[in-house]
Amino acid sequence: MKMWDSFRSVARFAPIEWDATSRRLAKVASVDDLRRLAKRRLPAGVFDYIDGGAEDERTLGANSSDFATVEFRPRVMRDVSRLDTSTTIFGTPAAMPVILSPTGFTRIAHSQGELAVTRAAARAGVPWSLSTMGTRSIEECAEANPTGEKWFQIYTWKDRGLVEELVGRARRAGYGAVWLTVDTAVLGRRERDVRRGMTLPPKLGPATLVDGAIHPGWTWDFLQGGPITFANIVGRHDEDGSTAITLADHVARQFDQALSWDDIDWLRSIWDGPIVLKGIQTVADAKQAVSMGVAGIGLSNHGGRQLDDAPTPVSLIEPVRQEVGDQATIICDGGIRRGSDIVKAIALGADAVSLGRPYFLALGAAGEAGVDWLLDFLRSGMERTMALTGCRSVAEIDRDLVAWKR
Ligand SMILES: Cc1cc2nc3c(=O)[nH]c(=O)nc-3n(C[C@H](O)[C@H](O)[C@H](O)COP(=O)(O)O)c2cc1C
Repeated sequence: MKMWDSFRSVARFAPIEWDATSRRLAKVASVDDLRRLAKRRLPAGVFDYIDGGAEDERTLGANSSDFATVEFRPRVMRDVSRLDTSTTIFGTPAAMPVILSPTGFTRIAHSQGELAVTRAAARAGVPWSLSTMGTRSIEECAEANPTGEKWFQIYTWKDRGLVEELVGRARRAGYGAVWLTVDTAVLGRRERDVRRGMTLPPKLGPATLVDGAIHPGWTWDFLQGGPITFANIVGRHDEDGSTAITLADHVARQFDQALSWDDIDWLRSIWDGPIVLKGIQTVADAKQAVSMGVAGIGLSNHGGRQLDDAPTPVSLIEPVRQEVGDQATIICDGGIRRGSDIVKAIALGADAVSLGRPYFLALGAAGEAGVDWLLDFLRSGMERTMALTGCRSVAEIDRDLVAWKR
């Protein structure tokens, strides 16, 4: 009897969870866990396309690990019974200072692709961005997320008429800001993709077939989803999705390597909303951007996918803020994996952060529910960090809250 009582005092029988996605997510505690789950569920080539970086992936690693070189100076006894993570970005309210970065080929992780991500962003009250290399159209995404804040990302194509047309469509569909990605004069060398001969859309060679067979959940979903295309530029050029080309080929053929600061005036003539330069990596370029009236500085190295040994976004926040003062909105893009990273970036002087892989991998790991999980994880992590450091609002997160570790 005593033994039974002892057993009963510790035994816990959770109700059976019938939904497979909820069962998977119940075991996830961090972005690292989501990544592991995505690695199990996705074919290796798909996982590596999302997860990988340029060359030796030093910048990819440093983007996150640099956050570990910042420590808190927590204040206590500050009545943190009420916490507010909300902010405004370009005058639009956001539930937290987080933006979902543009990522191409999102449907490779899940057939719903951008539609799932934009719906989750709307529920969480944060801006979401569509890539020009997106796999759902500008209009489809606006229909899926009619009221939430949406941004559109462009590259400068040789065909400027195409950019103008896309930006016009984005304006008519209610998108509020444009990212101009400036770090992709040529494509970075992503050696995991080179090794695997990865093409987009994926080519069905024997290796892909075997990989698909051992990932039946992904394969079934992929086959249900219909052909993956560059949804916004279908019918333009040769990239209609019917033939597989490498991303490097596409960039080499279509992107304009002559992009220069003179193009800012041109972009302003076709888009009257906020412009964020995505891929600023020096104080000098941030200064130049501000002198040309650019509203947003996206401190980014493309998630370590372009130039290896580029500086990390987190290391640039403070010097750039010192240089540009309040003249621009600063967004730290890359390496954010926790709510505490968001608080650190804000303390160093960023207005907001943005992130790519965490939601892309969440989508691969558990579909739309995975993205919901991630956004809730980031918000609750931000709240917990604010409570433990004595900050009640985003405005209270200031430079005194953090120090660089010696
Ligand atoms: C799979 C993948 C595809 C991406 N595609 C684009 C793109 O089409 N346009 C763009 O400007 N950035 C693209 N990026 C970069 C992201 O917008 C963002 O800068 C980066 O993911 C931030 O780093 P993080 O993944 O550590 O959060 C992509 C990133 C990934 C991981």
